[in-house]
Amino acid sequence: MKYTDVSLAPADGGKQFVRVQRVIEHFPGLRTFVFRADGERTKTLAPQRAGNYIAITADVGGSRVTRAYTLASSPKEAESGIYISTVKKAGILSSYLVDEVKEGDVLEVSRPAGRFVYERGKDCAHVTGVAGGAGITSMLSMAKAAEEGSENYRMTLFFCVKNAYEFLFRDVLDGMKSGRVQVVYVVESDAPDFAESGVFTRELLHKYVNEATTLFACGGNELYGHILRELAGDGSVRGMKFSQNSVTDREDDRMFSLSVHLAGREYVIPTRASETLMVAMERAGLGALSQCRVGECGFCRSTVTAGRYSVHPEHDERSSEDVRRGIVHPCCTYPESDMEISVPQDPAAEVI
Ligand code: FES
Repeated sequence: MKYTDVSLAPADGGKQFVRVQRVIEHFPGLRTFVFRADGERTKTLAPQRAGNYIAITADVGGSRVTRAYTLASSPKEAESGIYISTVKKAGILSSYLVDEVKEGDVLEVSRPAGRFVYERGKDCAHVTGVAGGAGITSMLSMAKAAEEGSENYRMTLFFCVKNAYEFLFRDVLDGMKSGRVQVVYVVESDAPDFAESGVFTRELLHKYVNEATTLFACGGNELYGHILRELAGDGSVRGMKFSQNSVTDREDDRMFSLSVHLAGREYVIPTRASETLMVAMERAGLGALSQCRVGECGFCRSTVTAGRYSVHPEHDERSSEDVRRGIVHPCCTYPESDMEISVPQDPAAEVI
C-alpha cells in the first residue's frame, strides 16, 4: 500500500528550543513561564503576533506529548527575545510543566501560530476583549500589542472572574497608560472598589464602548454562549472571534485497535473510543506530528485507509475534498471501529 499524503507542516516541524528563564507561581497549580532561545539549537525566537499560541512538546512518562499554550507575551517582547505563557495544572503535560519544569530547563516548542489575531482592514479600529478567568493570557497579549503600538487598534478589555484573587497580571494591565487600552475588571460577587460587580452584559459593554467594535473572547463555551445571547442583534458589534477550546475526551467505553503507518513502519496500538487518535498515538510513544491540537493547523493531517471514525463537530475544519478523500486530523478524530491510518512523523522524535 502506498501513502502519499503529507501534513502541512514545514520539514523541521516548525521546532524551536527554548530555555526557561523564569518561573512565577501565582498560586499552587498556576505558573507563568518566561522562555528565551536556548542559544544552541535556536539562536533567535520566531516572531509572534498578539493572540498566538506555541505548542510545547516533552517526553513525559514514556509518551511524547504536545499541547498548545496561548502566549501572554507581545510581538515586541518576542522580538526582544522572550515568550511568556501561563500554565494551569491539568492533564499530563500541564502537570509536568507546573510540577517539574524549573528555571534553566530546555523545552521544545513550535513557532507561534494561530488564527485568533487582529486582521487589519477587516476588523474594527476598536477591539473589545472579553476574558473569562484563565483566558486572560491571549487577551493580555492583545492589550500589550495595542499599548506598545505593534498592532493598530484601541482596546477595551473586560476581565471577568468569579473571585478577585483571579485577576492575574493586574500590575501589568494597570501600568498601561498610553490611552489605547481601557481595562474593566468584573467580579461575579463581592467586587472590590476597582471592579464592576456581576458578569459581562450588553449594558456593561455600552457603558464603556460606544463605537463600532470587533469582539474577541477567550474563556470557554459557557462564556461564548453567554456573549452570543447577550449581544444578539447588537449592531455595534461588527464581528466576534472566539478562541478555540481544547478537544476534550468523550464518554465511551469501547476499545479498538489502531494500525499506524509512520516513517515507513507499521505499529498496531490499542485506542480508546473516548480519546482522540492523537492521544492514542502519544500514549503508545509514537512520534506523530501535531501542533495546535484543535484541528486548525493541519500539521497532523493524515490519511485513513480503513475503519470508521468521527470528528469533533466544533473542530472539523477539513475541506470538502479532504473529507471525500478520508483525510483527517487525528488531534480531533475519535475511532468508531478498528482503524488503519498513515500519519506524518515529528522530525524531532526518535522512531521506536
Ligand atoms: S495538530 Fe493542528 S490540526 Fe491537528
